[in-house]
Amino acid sequence: MNRTVERRCFVKLCAAAAVTAGANPALLAAAGTTARLYHRTALVDDDGVPITAQNLDVGRSYVFHYPYATTPCFLLDLGRPVRAAVQLSTETGEPYVWPGGTGRDGSVVAFAAICAHRMTHPAKDVSFINYRHGKVRYLDSGDRPRERNGVIFCCSEKSVYDPADGARVLGGPAKQPLATILLQSEPGSGALYALGTIGGEMYDAYFEKFAFRLALEHETSDIQRPAGETSVVMDIETYSRTIMQC
Ligand code: FES
Repeated sequence: MNRTVERRCFVKLCAAAAVTAGANPALLAAAGTTARLYHRTALVDDDGVPITAQNLDVGRSYVFHYPYATTPCFLLDLGRPVRAAVQLSTETGEPYVWPGGTGRDGSVVAFAAICAHRMTHPAKDVSFINYRHGKVRYLDSGDRPRERNGVIFCCSEKSVYDPADGARVLGGPAKQPLATILLQSEPGSGALYALGTIGGEMYDAYFEKFAFRLALEHETSDIQRPAGETSVVMDIETYSRTIMQC
């Protein structure tokens, strides 16, 4: 069985996926869009205790790995509900619907922390890409100066993404939003799970470009190992020794 078939379950979000997604109305709202369902992975702290939306500090950048053990994601509580059903498209023009925030307030979102330009991502030494809850200045897609808060900013070549709008590109050279990580908030406990992705994944190119460093950093010969049953959530200051601000 090849890797694509083995590790990815490409499906339409249909009845079967809706069962997997439980009662998450945002995911159900995305029915009909193409999603990739991977393993259902529980987000946990470093003691293995489930993370809930209520555990997250508003405005803090958290990192976990999914759908592979070496592919970082941002987990963010934006502090306000964010709407579902935002229409986006990948660089190749494939449309998809962003399912919006999850958690009790609909304010928790997750995205692949791999810049859609040249795949800058948080590493243990340094992170050039980060969520900025406070006000930042940047150039928009028409090179006009802007100022606003609540953006994901990549300091490499200054791509800027709006996490309250499906990580839509606000400025810089990126040609597509960050891929969305589909989250489920378990009814009752509020425990968070990662289920899959929607949008423009870049994992094949990422593995090819960073293979050597990923193997060293994650101390593994299998950099494409699935995340598995649980993925540890860390704040980015714990995960990366240096956080570049720009
Ligand atoms: S890698 Fe992020 S802007 Fe170039």
